Amino acid sequence: MPIQSIPLEDTFADVLRKAMRGAGVNEKQLSDATGISAAAIADWLKENGAADDAQARALAAVLRLDGGKLADSAAQRWTPPHIELSDVRRHSQEPHPSNGYVFFLDGGREAALVDPAGIPQNLLRLLRDGDYHLHYILITHKHPDHCDATADVAAAFPAAKIVMHALDVHAIGALAAKATLLRDGETLPFGGDATIRMLHTPGHTDGSSSYLFQNALFSGDTLFAASVGGAFGDASTYEDILNSVRSKLFTLPGDTVVMPGHGPPSTIELERQHNPFFT
Ligand SMILES: [Fe+2]
Repeated sequence: MPIQSIPLEDTFADVLRKAMRGAGVNEKQLSDATGISAAAIADWLKENGAADDAQARALAAVLRLDGGKLADSAAQRWTPPHIELSDVRRHSQEPHPSNGYVFFLDGGREAALVDPAGIPQNLLRLLRDGDYHLHYILITHKHPDHCDATADVAAAFPAAKIVMHALDVHAIGALAAKATLLRDGETLPFGGDATIRMLHTPGHTDGSSSYLFQNALFSGDTLFAASVGGAFGDASTYEDILNSVRSKLFTLPGDTVVMPGHGPPSTIELERQHNPFFT
């Protein structure tokens, strides 16, 4: 599928549901606080219609979202432009709806994989399709649609280091003992003098991590184009995911390209301007 045809991961209904859950506000409370009927809100959550601009601004005020950006989400007025990086290849991870990536250095001779998931034979065929050295298997978080092919890839590429945050590493079973566990801000050497930096971005899961290589940010399920991942942490919360984005991702240069675990690529500057979770 060409990159430009990837739809946004989250609809207005998804954004509304995540924000209501995060803020601990139910349909009745949201109706009471905004004067919008609970039936209308329930319909929108089922993808039946959407708020108009004034309604979206009223919802946003209660849910601590950005009013103008939420109105754009409801009216489907914004999607990111087509964005590609020459040294980053995206692949789908069937049967999962998630994105995996392979990125390259030194004319394509050195490579790293982000999120080994999906049907192993498909992934191995793709990984063997090139004359390069796979240095790293970088895992953004513990959910199966991001790491369920780890054992197969590790067996096929025994020299590749598995990299993950300690809080999510139990998801890869016995391989956890072999994994390279990084802490927030730590780097991995890559190629001659390049590095890959890990940013611990908890909230979606406790060990959720993003990886920064040059101007590409692999954000897993922390930051999507015009949305964020759901808050499914054991200890970390919705507030943590918002703080992770604000303090660790939105402080990166605006032209940093966001390569998310679901949906189309974006940039840090575009997300500052368009993501309804951030004012
Ligand atoms: Fe996830």
